[in-house]
Amino acid sequence: MYNHRIRRPSLMDKVCSAEQAAALIKDGMIVGMSGFTRAGEAKAVPLALAERAALDPFKITLMTGASLGNNIDRRLTEAGVLARRLPFQVDPVLRAAINRGEVMFTDQHLSETVEMLRSRQMGPIDYAVIEATAILEDGSIVPTTSVGNSATFAILAEKVIVEINRNLPLEMEGLHDIYIPTRRPYRDPVPVMRCDSRVGLTSIPIEPTKIAAIVFSETMDSPSTNEAPDAATNAIAGHLIEFFKHEVKQGRLGMSLAPLQAGIGTIANAVLHGMIDSPFRDLTMYSEVLQDSTIELFDSGKLKFASGSSITLTQPMMDRLLADLTRYKERMVLRPQEISNHPEVIRRLGIIGINTALECDIYGNINSTHVNGTHMMNGIGGSGDFARNAYMSIFVARSTAKDDAISAIVPMVTHVDHCEHDVDVIATEHGLADLRGLAPRERAKLIIGHCAHPLYRDLAWDYFERACARGGHTPHLLEEAFSWHQRRQQTGSMLPAVAAE
Ligand code: COA
Repeated sequence: MYNHRIRRPSLMDKVCSAEQAAALIKDGMIVGMSGFTRAGEAKAVPLALAERAALDPFKITLMTGASLGNNIDRRLTEAGVLARRLPFQVDPVLRAAINRGEVMFTDQHLSETVEMLRSRQMGPIDYAVIEATAILEDGSIVPTTSVGNSATFAILAEKVIVEINRNLPLEMEGLHDIYIPTRRPYRDPVPVMRCDSRVGLTSIPIEPTKIAAIVFSETMDSPSTNEAPDAATNAIAGHLIEFFKHEVKQGRLGMSLAPLQAGIGTIANAVLHGMIDSPFRDLTMYSEVLQDSTIELFDSGKLKFASGSSITLTQPMMDRLLADLTRYKERMVLRPQEISNHPEVIRRLGIIGINTALECDIYGNINSTHVNGTHMMNGIGGSGDFARNAYMSIFVARSTAKDDAISAIVPMVTHVDHCEHDVDVIATEHGLADLRGLAPRERAKLIIGHCAHPLYRDLAWDYFERACARGGHTPHLLEEAFSWHQRRQQTGSMLPAVAAE
């Protein structure tokens, strides 16, 4: 009955229910599951784990590629299953548990998790649970809408549970490029020379005897929650497009720019969407998550090729992709996240990295993760992999959050994810600061003058001028550096009462 999905007959007797498969996972185990930016996660087994824990409490360490959809992180958190979670999440219930100190969250560069497992600095993995469209004749696994860390989880795990999604087309085979770096100390260069290089296998090679259970599911990925572009994100896109035009005029970039990377979230997606109406052509992407903007850029004829680790789309866009998968597949590849985010490849290809900041300070340090320096939002994700190694590292943000009560440009960030040395350009809806080659005092003038919201500009100038009077290469008033954050905590707004009126 399932011959076309399980093409190795000896594995047929491994088919079981999600509950039976989940029962294999015991208290204290380390489990590596598929799933990256709400795409391609195992769905039935984790939910069966949550149900079991309600009756029979147990805890595991859960590793994935990145965030999960279908409320899986929420359900696992509510059931008390998660002792430790890594390397990324976006779920509000899990976020709250992390911030209460109930779940230990290891916030990691997305390219690093499997390197640490491979070198036994973490692990070992007891079970890998991987969503697939099929198991091939040789026992290898064809992943679905993401590769993430699935390949290395499956290769390193003691045992593997495969969750075959009957609703995803078998034509997904050929979309993936599974390349695993060779062992140190004789490691070869990663042979990705261009965005469209195919250097590996189309399925995850594992020893078939490791497959302990095969479960069928029909649940689709959760649709993307990105909001549509608005006036602010359109303005940010506009500033970047003008900046890129200037770079072309100066002869530093051609009309196809350089391979583009865009981070998760509404703002980065909207910036790429803005490229549709730009004069640039024959664009390429070497990114980690391919969002709606990727499909829109393909359809507008602007984009030649997109390399990523996952596809996270709204429902209409997913329908469009699946209806014409064979055609899109020729121009797309999904790689393991250690390859999509590999520092060596990012530096070689000369990528333009566009990631989003929660807050930036007047000297160009970026906080992408910690509200008030203490409370985790989502995690650093792949932004650090790209920011440090990109040809050009751009950070975007709305100039204010929470109805202007928070300024994205602050005297000093309360947590540093990307230091001033890794940030070339900052853009908000008010303008763009090109920081390349500048000293901190020069950078502050551009960041305050071009990027800060007008409501906060005078406050920032006042801080900067008084700090400069005190001296220093990177002038600060240490006793006031976090005063805006303190005011937000005390009064609800970073604005002083007078300015807020
Ligand atoms: N302080 C507190 N909250 C802030 C804030 C700040 N300085 N700046 C933004 N926010 C809030 C917004 O109000 C919004 O809250 P809501 O969900 O309650 O509406 C939320 O953060 C998201 O902000 P938004 O402006 O919609 O941007 P986004 O969806 O693009 O997300 C990040 C922005 C920074 C949270 C997101 O990009 C992220 O997690 N980045 C880190 C990981 C990363 O860069 N990965 C890229 C490679 S995967």
